[in-house]
Amino acid sequence: MKKLSLFLVVALMVLTFGTTSFAADEVKIGVILPMTGPVAAFGQMTWEGIELANELRPQVLGKPVKLILLDDKSDKVEAANTASRLIEKEHVVAGIGAVASSNTLSAAPIFEKAKVPLITPASTNPLVTQGKKFIFRACFIDPFQGKVAAKFAYNNLKARKAAILVDIAQDYCVGLANFFEKNFKALGGEIVSKTFCKTGDQDFSAQLTTIKAKNPDVIYIPNYYTEDALIAKQAREMGINAPLLSGDGAQAPQLIEIGGKAVEGMYYTTHFNEKAASTELGKKYVEIYHKKFNKSPNALGALGFDAYYILLDAIERAGSLDPVKIRDGIAATKDFKGVTGVITIDENGNAIKSAVIETVKNGKFEFVTVVNP
Ligand code: PHE
Repeated sequence: MKKLSLFLVVALMVLTFGTTSFAADEVKIGVILPMTGPVAAFGQMTWEGIELANELRPQVLGKPVKLILLDDKSDKVEAANTASRLIEKEHVVAGIGAVASSNTLSAAPIFEKAKVPLITPASTNPLVTQGKKFIFRACFIDPFQGKVAAKFAYNNLKARKAAILVDIAQDYCVGLANFFEKNFKALGGEIVSKTFCKTGDQDFSAQLTTIKAKNPDVIYIPNYYTEDALIAKQAREMGINAPLLSGDGAQAPQLIEIGGKAVEGMYYTTHFNEKAASTELGKKYVEIYHKKFNKSPNALGALGFDAYYILLDAIERAGSLDPVKIRDGIAATKDFKGVTGVITIDENGNAIKSAVIETVKNGKFEFVTVVNP
């Protein structure tokens, strides 16, 4: 009898503590961000937004939220490792991350297999969520972003000949370049040159020589900020004066620090500008962000904030910390009035929302316009 009750006690303990994520007195949410490496600026900006969200809303279902931040080092292999660690060691109920699409693409299958939901604030490549039940995003996707850029080049910049210089080491850049190309051609424009580089490249003179010979009306560079800043510098040094157009990956303080005068007048598509804040939460965010950080808010912080809120709303609606129920809660997100706009998650796990166009003016990021889907 004694033996049996001891067995029961042990069995009960295993039951309660074995599934820590269900019964714990805190809600563990994993966060995967690039805190070091080539796109470390993205991690810093996103984390600011997530921390702000956590300050405003530190609890869910009456329990404190515990954020476990792991650094993917801007690297695919590290992104997969962090995903495994969050699931196997930390037993998180859900994840937020990553930023660069290639890294989210590498973390996503691990969450999918474990049936733990992952919401990326900012990865825009369509493949990130495609065919997966547990992967979501708080941002629009690149078929839309590429179209917005093509229309802007054709209609606003009146470009008819475009050159593309794309980083083929990044799924995001490759995808966005293709979507731009397709839409620019559909509008009647011509791609006069398409050249390639890789993350970490320093010298773009060969590609720029080709581009210069074609005399394009616009150069589309849908890359991350460091490569874009260096391309801009070298293009201007070589006397290429065509306008430069990029995507959301361009926005980081480093673009201006590295690019200096060369990035003046550069345009890029993105997700959020304080002047475009339309919701109650958006306006509140702008105000508290200015107070806390003493600067204008950026797209990534706002998306990080929204990803956190979407997740907490989903947990609240699920009324449970069961990752499968949380997954269903995220999938059911409808008309969530976030910082970056009104967000509805579609059947593919993607958010349908507007894009913003910005430019660099007097060494600062400036609002140009909003484009609706
Ligand atoms: N969209 C980029 C990607 O998928 C990430 C990004 C989003 C970077 C927003 C900056 C701002 O890789």
